[in-house]
Amino acid sequence: MSEIAPSATSPAERFQPSQQPSDDVWEVLYTTRAIRRLKPDPIADDVLYRLLDAAIRAPSGGNQQSWRFIVVRDQATKARLGELYRECIAALFASGYGQPAPGVTLTPAQIAAAEKMGKSAQYLATHFAEVPVYVLGCIRTAANAGVTAGASIYPAIWSLQLAARALGLGSTLTTVHRMREAQVKALLGVPDGYETAALIPLGYPRGTFAPGPRQPVEAVSFLDRWGAAFERGRG
Ligand SMILES: Cc1cc2nc3c(=O)[nH]c(=O)nc-3n(C[C@H](O)[C@H](O)[C@H](O)COP(=O)(O)O)c2cc1C
Repeated sequence: MSEIAPSATSPAERFQPSQQPSDDVWEVLYTTRAIRRLKPDPIADDVLYRLLDAAIRAPSGGNQQSWRFIVVRDQATKARLGELYRECIAALFASGYGQPAPGVTLTPAQIAAAEKMGKSAQYLATHFAEVPVYVLGCIRTAANAGVTAGASIYPAIWSLQLAARALGLGSTLTTVHRMREAQVKALLGVPDGYETAALIPLGYPRGTFAPGPRQPVEAVSFLDRWGAAFERGRG
């Protein structure tokens, strides 16, 4: 078992890049990240079942569990989804996504990170149909729209991704397909009253699991009041 955070060593030092499954909750929490370069190797039904069975342990408002998950493995369906997904990615990039806001200057490191993510996103779009399985997470929004509806499915989506990483599978939370929401719903038969919340590619990773770049706790957390520093070791 790894040492529980906080630790004197950085996550990058504690958790070496790996392709291996892991039962260490801290390793899973720290090394689950967007993995878009995936092998075409099939994923066993039992494994997919385990992921969904972990996902449905997540909380939902009033425990309504109004989530539905479509496991997409059919090659022709993936091919059509891929066409839609590429249209969305093209529209997103054409809209200036990833470019700094007017007046904002990025550091060379930030520019490099944005370029890396853009290439990774484009890779997934280009190789979309090679991914063995997608899970489309849907949520009933008929009675409950907006952020609150999302809050009743994204915990389950993240649990699915954590479970995938524990079993050595890569995944990414994607939402850009929502630019073609009507077409995606029609393709997969999603009824009125439901929205698609996330399209999750799943597969064994070509690369490794490792901690992603994140701002430190001190940069994003306050004590008692917005703006008041929250620092490690205050008691
Ligand atoms: C709400 C949300 C929507 C996202 N949509 C997409 C998407 O449509 N396509 C994609 O390739 N990645 C998407 N991502 C993945 C993010 O780009 C990724 O989580 C983020 O860059 C951090 O990556 P890392 O964990 O590898 O550092 C999305 C993530 C979130 C949380």
